[in-house]
This record gives sequence, C-alpha cells and structure tokens, in this order.
Amino acid sequence: MIPLRLSELVRRSAPRYTSYPTAPSFGPDVGPETYDAWLRELSGAAGTASLYLHVPFCRAICNYCACTTRATRSDEPLRAYARRLRREIGLVAARTGPLRVSHIHWGGGTPNLLPPELFDELVADIRGRFDVRSDAEHAIELDPRWVTRESARRLAAAGVTRASLGVQDFDEEVQRAIGRPQPFSVVKAAVSALRAADFAGLNFDLIYGLPHQTMSSIRDTARRAASLAPDRIALFGYAHVPWFRANQRLIEECALPASAARYDLAETARETLQAAGYDAVGIDHFARPADALRRAAREGRLRRNFQGYTTDRSEALIGLGPSAIGRSHRGFTQNAADAGGWARAVDAGQFATVKGYALTPDDRLRSDVIEALMCGFSVDLGEAARSHGVEPQVFDDDLAKLRPLVEQEFVRIEGHRVTITRDAQSLARIVASAFDVHLGAGARHSAVV
Ligand SMILES: C[S@@+](CC[C@H](N)C(=O)[O-])C[C@H]1O[C@@H](n2cnc3c(N)ncnc32)[C@H](O)[C@@H]1O
Ligand code: SF4
Repeated sequence: MIPLRLSELVRRSAPRYTSYPTAPSFGPDVGPETYDAWLRELSGAAGTASLYLHVPFCRAICNYCACTTRATRSDEPLRAYARRLRREIGLVAARTGPLRVSHIHWGGGTPNLLPPELFDELVADIRGRFDVRSDAEHAIELDPRWVTRESARRLAAAGVTRASLGVQDFDEEVQRAIGRPQPFSVVKAAVSALRAADFAGLNFDLIYGLPHQTMSSIRDTARRAASLAPDRIALFGYAHVPWFRANQRLIEECALPASAARYDLAETARETLQAAGYDAVGIDHFARPADALRRAAREGRLRRNFQGYTTDRSEALIGLGPSAIGRSHRGFTQNAADAGGWARAVDAGQFATVKGYALTPDDRLRSDVIEALMCGFSVDLGEAARSHGVEPQVFDDDLAKLRPLVEQEFVRIEGHRVTITRDAQSLARIVASAFDVHLGAGARHSAVV
C-alpha cells in the first residue's frame, strides 16, 4: 500500500524530462534555415551522431496510444513514406557529409510494417551516406503481432541488433479495454523468432495504470514477461491525455485506477520484476544485471533522451520523419507532426522543421542537473555549476522550492549534493521540475506516478 506521506505527491503531474527544456518550450523561431545551419556545423565535427527514424503507421490504432501514428490497411502509404524518408536522409547528408553514426533507432508507429525491401533500401542509403560505426547499436520498435521468423531474419540481415516489443499487458480483460488483442503465445513466438535470428538485445514495454488492471493481474503480466527473459523491460505509467489523443476517448475513464492505485500497481510490478532477477534502472526501466544499460547506470554513464534511458552518448541526434525531434549542441528541432506538412516540405527539397529551441548556457547547465537526477537520483550542484563556469548560488531559488520535500525526507541536501531518497525515487520528475525554469502555465503533463 502507498505510504500516506506519498499520497498527495503521486497525484501531481510533471514532464517526463526526456529533454530539457521539454517540447512545450519549442517555438516557431527555429525553422528550416536554423536547422540547415546547425547541421552544417556538424560536418567534420568530432564525436558521433545518432539517427532516429519515425515510422508513423500502424495497422490499427490502440485505444491507449499516445504516439504520433495513423492506421493504414494498405502498404501504399508506407511506400510513399519510404521514398520521402530517403529524400530527407539525402537532404541531411548533403549538409553534414559522412557523419560518424553510433546509434540508429527506428520508432513509431510500427516500423516493422515497412516492406522488407524498402527497409533494406533505407538502411543501404544510411550506410552509403553516413559512416555507420561497425559497433553501432541498431534498434527497432516492433509490434509483436507482425513479427515472423522471416521478418526477424530480414531485420537481422539488415544489421538490426536490438528489438523492443510492445507487450503492454497480458490480461485479456485489460487487452479488450485498451483495444490491443495480443495473446501471450503471439509475444512468445515473436521472441523465439528474434532469438532464432540472433538479435543481441531484446526489450519489452509494459504499461501500468491501464483500465481493469489489478494487483494480481499486473503481477501475472510481470511474471509472464520475465518468463520470456528479455534483457530489458520498460514499465511506463499509462499517460491518459484524451484532450491530445482522441483515440483515448475510447478508454472507459471509470475503469482507470486512481493515483494511489497506480502507485500500488507500479510497486507490485516492480517487486515482481526484481524478484525475477531484474534490477531497476532510472524511474521506469528494469534490466538484467549484466545488461549494458544496467552497467551504465551502476557506473554513472546512463543517459536520457527522447527514447527514454539509453547508453547513447552522442552529442547530436538527427530526427527523420514526421514529428521527429533532433538535437545538437545548439538546441532542438522538430519536424512537422502532420504527415502532409512533412511530405510537402520534403517533396520541395526542404527541411520539415516547424519548431525548435536554441539552448542558452543556463539551459545546458539545468539540462545536466535534470538528467543527473532522472538517471542517478543525485546531483552535485557545485560540480555542475563549476563545469559550466558559474557559482552554485544560481540554484538558490530552486533549492528553496525543494524545502517541503526535504522536510518530508524525500530529498536530502548535503553541502551542494541533492539526493532523492530511495522511497521517493518514483517522484524524481517532481524533484527535477524544481530546476525547470521553463515549466509554465498552459502545458499539461501526465501524472508523475
Ligand atoms: C511505438 S510503440 C511500440 C511498437 C509498436 N507500435 C507496438 O505497439 O507494439 C511505443 C510504446 O509506447 C508506449 N505507449 C504508447 N502509448 C502510451 C501511453 N498513452 N502511455 C504510456 N505508454 C504508452 C507503449 O508501451 C508502446 O509499446
Ligand atoms: S501502441 Fe503501437 S501499435 Fe498501438 S497504435 Fe500505438 S504505435 Fe501503433
């Protein structure tokens, strides 16, 4: 049961801090010309870049989904999309030259709907235009319902090394309520297809806070997930944002667990996964002790980006496809989220950047502080300030905001070090938000637990 002293805090909402500043701060003053200039600066730069390719198509839209995607029965939109994506890759490469690439991530939507010959062409294009390192991680998000032995073999042959499967929940009643029919046998078959194809890494996504979930059903889901032994499991809190995603209006709100019950569901899943041999990583990931993400967390090398926790240390991220976000040391850029707007720009040989954000020195400092809290639950503000050439006093107002959390022993402050105490780690987003000077009125965020 949720400790009484946490029950007020778990009702709060805060950003997920997959970036700082977060997306609501992006504005139209950063457009295609700025993106062009920022890309040119990457040309010849030391270090590596990551590529994120967004595939905004699914066969049907799940009721709970908050991703930028749309349903298509036919492959035609995927073919047109792949043609444009190749064009966009060409536009970027023309500015950057053969960037060294250490990570490639295909997200969505459902990237495994791309017909294999188109996927191969896209990967060949990427390899032809960029200097993809031989040890690069090449990851893809997969809907297990569309994974076959042949598709797994083709992906592995194209060089994909890590697969992330959308599992969500194994309970039939929950699956009905979320519009995601997916028997255990389907996930098991996808796992064995990926293992037969020699995938080096396997992740599962689970969600807590879904309609009709109970302690016993989520325990069962976590146990069954662990029985398939993926290397990593992400346990996301269901983000119910029906004002932003109309498909979520199909979710029966009266069947949704309240905030205290969400906390209990998350704790039950956490305990079950830990009992099955998984270690917690950050606020919502679990990994086997030998896994690279777990090792990075232990050694203070864990990072956080738009895909969540990662071992990726690249300075630059190139986002491709509708809604994709990119990052360089200069700031963030985001493509048009509507497929039509993105397509029109790319067809005209232009970048589809519609908004972004130019980082200030203060943003870079706060970004480091927030990432440290989200990844390791602790930060030395003195060290952070000095490494950015300022005095730790810049944080005086932020520390004042933390005082109530310190009084309740959720946060400890020793010298310049701020540490989130063990039983308050699920509240890391609230602690991080004390350092967020952009957090303003207007933007609505999901519940912290
Ligand atoms: C692009 S999907 C994964 C691949 C594939 N489309 C699938 O569903 O299997 C990304 C993940 O986001 C998570 N997700 C989507 N909508 C969510 C929401 N409203 N709240 C929390 N997690 C969500 C799900 O766990 C999902 O697996
Ligand atoms: S959860 Fe996955 S399959 Fe379902 S609509 Fe979202 S992106 Fe598509």
